[in-house]
Amino acid sequence: MTPLAALLAARIRRFGPITFAEYMRECLYHPLHGYYAQPEARRYADYFTSVDVSPIFGRLLARQFAEMWQLLAHPREFLLVEAAAGTGRLADHVLEFAQSRLPEFFGALQYVAVERSPARCEQLAARLAPYCQVGKCRASQEIPARISAGCLFSNELIDAFPVHRVIQQGGALKELCITNQGDSFVEIALPLSTCAITDYFAAQQIILREGQIAEAGLEACDWITEIGRRLDRGFVLTIDYGHEAAELFDDRHRAGTLMSYRDHQASGDLFAAPGEQDLTAHVNFTALRQWGARQGLETLGLVSQTAFLLALGKGNDFADLYKDGMDETSRARARLQLKTLIYPEGMGERFRLLAQQKGVPNARLTGLQPL
Ligand SMILES: C[S@@+](CC[C@H](N)C(=O)[O-])C[C@H]1O[C@@H](n2cnc3c(N)ncnc32)[C@H](O)[C@@H]1O
Repeated sequence: MTPLAALLAARIRRFGPITFAEYMRECLYHPLHGYYAQPEARRYADYFTSVDVSPIFGRLLARQFAEMWQLLAHPREFLLVEAAAGTGRLADHVLEFAQSRLPEFFGALQYVAVERSPARCEQLAARLAPYCQVGKCRASQEIPARISAGCLFSNELIDAFPVHRVIQQGGALKELCITNQGDSFVEIALPLSTCAITDYFAAQQIILREGQIAEAGLEACDWITEIGRRLDRGFVLTIDYGHEAAELFDDRHRAGTLMSYRDHQASGDLFAAPGEQDLTAHVNFTALRQWGARQGLETLGLVSQTAFLLALGKGNDFADLYKDGMDETSRARARLQLKTLIYPEGMGERFRLLAQQKGVPNARLTGLQPL
């Protein structure tokens, strides 16, 4: 039993079953034993993200952000908010590229690297210190209260939001909650913990089939609602893996999409090592679009990571892959890294990018243009 499993078991014995969302929140964000409270080295042992593959990811994003600044008519200050900045690697790539290649944009850029985990927030503040010292960047555990002109973006944040887990049983939705059985955790179907779950499926016109299990990502809906409120003019970019609702709740996903990751192995065992394994659920892009639209966030497009990176890179034949003075071996390595990011069998088609705007009607983003 992990230390967190012992704590959760004691809590359930005293107070009764907990929802899956509560379980997932503790597993990922418990201040002492949560997965994201652990040192970053633990994470590398389990999975890697596009940011870890190559700096070209951040460089092409920087080009897209610079174009957004132009579309906003060059505001004196462009607030770029990265949610779930981890240890600041992506921020470093974006800032370094903007400083060296996009100097006018860099002049207006104010970067806020937001990370919920205090340990990671400290790491990112240290990494980004050179930019923070000259007032170009700040580390924060909170999204700014107001973004008057800018962009909020995230890479692999929404899949790490706690989700409720439901089952269609006897013609009604029930919530799968966690209880103890001896030394292990098991799921039991109970009445829904909140009517927001019924609203979630009704708003998307989703009716589950008998026996089907699914996730309700209520936290993602709250998140995009709040972002829509805080953004006056600008863009929201969400990069993650997932589907539109019609596909997410189809027959191929009859058991839902929750997965655990440990030692680079994916598993459906969600209770194997609470706090010591990553837990993720596919993102519901329809929900982000719908709940965003209620706050004035208009969807500009939903494209694969492949399409997005190719559209941004083709303008200069991916010259951004290379740094001045790079030898041929390093150049060949950089090209291979790019392939990992864009190959359909790799991250390219699995990851998608949702772009939303507010107050910038008819904005045309290069990354969304057909190839
Ligand atoms: C899968 S990691 C992705 C990290 C980074 N974006 C990358 O691509 O490597 C998810 C991160 O989201 C952070 N996180 C979760 N909820 C958050 C929130 N509400 N605000 C900011 N960061 C959050 C976690 O602490 C964790 O570092």
